Amino acid sequence: MQYQHIQNGIIEAPVEIDKIRDVYNKMSRIYFLATPLEKKARMRGIELARIQPDDKVLEVAVGIGHSFFEILKRVGGENTVYGLDLSPAMLEKTRKLATKKGYFNFELREGDARHLPFPDETFDVVYNSYMLDLIPIEEFSVILNEFHRVLKKDGRLILVNLSKKDNSPVFMEKVYKMAPYLLGGCRPVLMASFVKQAGFRNVIREIPKSIFPSEIVAGLK
Ligand SMILES: C[S@@+](CC[C@H](N)C(=O)[O-])C[C@H]1O[C@@H](n2cnc3c(N)ncnc32)[C@H](O)[C@@H]1O
Repeated sequence: MQYQHIQNGIIEAPVEIDKIRDVYNKMSRIYFLATPLEKKARMRGIELARIQPDDKVLEVAVGIGHSFFEILKRVGGENTVYGLDLSPAMLEKTRKLATKKGYFNFELREGDARHLPFPDETFDVVYNSYMLDLIPIEEFSVILNEFHRVLKKDGRLILVNLSKKDNSPVFMEKVYKMAPYLLGGCRPVLMASFVKQAGFRNVIREIPKSIFPSEIVAGLK
């Protein structure tokens, strides 16, 4: 079975992009339920991004906006924050909530992380949470190269994903192999070596304590 394929300790994600869009369009209504489990790692990721009011920030895969609102809090009101997602339903939720919270300095675009619709060297920070853990391994480098391309020199990359301590098998992978969409299509990934391969320096990895471990991997262009 395809799910058995393992590379660098990561099991493959044989999921197609149209299926992911479809799943997350449907999940947009209940995705708030995932928040408490992922909050700690997301917040640590935001902290490591050291966002300043004049930073130009892009969040790829905004979902329903959990991290996006934290980014908006840290960026000055005159400065536009950019967000992108594959799912129009997720984007619509984020747009409505951001406006309700009184933010107007943002631009949300429907798009694919594999082809970012932004020029080279545009952003000081690229933040991306719980997306690469959905993506097939061979596409990691395509996406990380895009993140590298749109970051300015010395720009900060922050990735937050479902993970595991090291490359030994874990129970969650058994669940994924049986029913990949039970966990929203996510399986544990280990991104640090891919981030280094994409040309980032000063790469660090942290795993905050949690029942479902997540890793934060950060690096500089
Ligand atoms: C598990 S949710 C995480 C959402 C948000 N980042 C968070 O931490 O709550 C995954 C999100 O990634 C988006 N996504 C998946 N593949 C994508 C791609 N190739 N490009 C852009 N967004 C993608 C989905 O539409 C969904 O909103």
